[in-house]
Amino acid sequence: MSQKPECKTEGNYIVVPKGLVNVIVDETKISGVDPKGESTIYRGFTIEDIGENASFYEATYLILYGELPCEEELKEVKNKIDKYRGQVPEKVFDALKHVPVTHPMYYGIYGASLLGQFYASDWKFDPDFLYDHALRLTAQLPVIFAAGWNLAHNGTFLRPDPTKDHAWDVLRMITMREPTELEARAFESTLVIYMDHGFNASTFTTRVIASTLSDLYAAVAGGIAALKGPLHGGANEKAMEMFLDAKKRAEGKGVPLDEYIEEYILEKLAKKEKIMGFGHRIYKLHDPRTDVAAKFVAQLKDGDYWMKVLKKAEEVMWREKKIPANIDLYTAILYYQLGIPIPMYTPIFAMGRVVGWSAHYIEQVLNNKLIRPTEKYVGPSGLKYQPMETRCRK
Ligand code: CMC
Repeated sequence: MSQKPECKTEGNYIVVPKGLVNVIVDETKISGVDPKGESTIYRGFTIEDIGENASFYEATYLILYGELPCEEELKEVKNKIDKYRGQVPEKVFDALKHVPVTHPMYYGIYGASLLGQFYASDWKFDPDFLYDHALRLTAQLPVIFAAGWNLAHNGTFLRPDPTKDHAWDVLRMITMREPTELEARAFESTLVIYMDHGFNASTFTTRVIASTLSDLYAAVAGGIAALKGPLHGGANEKAMEMFLDAKKRAEGKGVPLDEYIEEYILEKLAKKEKIMGFGHRIYKLHDPRTDVAAKFVAQLKDGDYWMKVLKKAEEVMWREKKIPANIDLYTAILYYQLGIPIPMYTPIFAMGRVVGWSAHYIEQVLNNKLIRPTEKYVGPSGLKYQPMETRCRK
């Protein structure tokens, strides 16, 4: 923000900018952009530090409970996540067999709702109860996404293996093959950097639902619905579709993609199209999460090739628009390198973000105030109901 924002009022009301741009709506101790606007802080640590060094279990503990776990705490959280991953109710799998093939984010939206029907009938606002359900949902949501996708596209699915590490097992269930250690760690780090991000659109949605004292499963179903949109989580899929479109055209012209990508981006910009995977409401100079993902992109399949393409795309966007890449540009390529089907990219974002949604749900309900803004009605008034015979006559 270059200049001090003006606070407009109308009578007793505060008028905030459209899109709530630069509006602080509440306090949180979970995560937020650091005061310099250069990174995001996870409970006191930078997102890069945790993304590079923490396991999924450690980061989950940190986001939910507020500190890094000691050995016993880590063991407990790991045991619970692994156990719950193996306990998705059989009826949920049955339900997944009977739904039409649509975008897999729907598996998450109704998967979370279905779990709510099993677990949320006697909902309590006791912290231990809430943390336990947060771990259960974190463990089970990825199983539902992977099973839904593979049932729809391969007619079968892999059952979870609770003896295995969460990230490794989830990647195995999605791709239906055993990942290498490097692949599993790359995948795990993206779950960690996707885990939380202040009051982004889906987290805010989750908090709004939480503020009505609805249950966690319903609140997270709402979060997943918000994440589905291409201006939010859906951008990683759109970014990969863009790269594949550019690759096809480059091949048609016999030019390498890292050379052709400039022309491709310039053409899109000339048509006033947005380049997916670029821009961010908060990071105007650099998204630090891209650094974590870039380290793995460079090490995975065709790493040098993809890094050249990414760097060229970033150079062009910075030169033309002063807009930096965001995390979705890098995870798009990373998931492609792991052989993950493109429509599963946003579900994976949800598999990480479910931890943040849960933490925000708990923070909200344990210190609640119903979130209910006021509108400014600008439509007509004073109209009177007319019977059908006299309506629509000119
Ligand atoms: N490509 C081209 N131009 C862009 C882009 C882009 N990716 N992003 C922003 N701009 C332009 C935009 O057209 C506008 O120009 P003008 O002022 O001439 O109309 C200006 O930059 C400001 O953009 P904005 O959309 O008003 O900015 P915002 O803060 O409301 O939006 C954003 C942030 C993420 C919605 C936007 O940058 C965007 O649509 N990016 C593409 C989608 C994307 O990659 N989303 C993932 C975000 S990171 C993951 C997540 O947390 O969800």
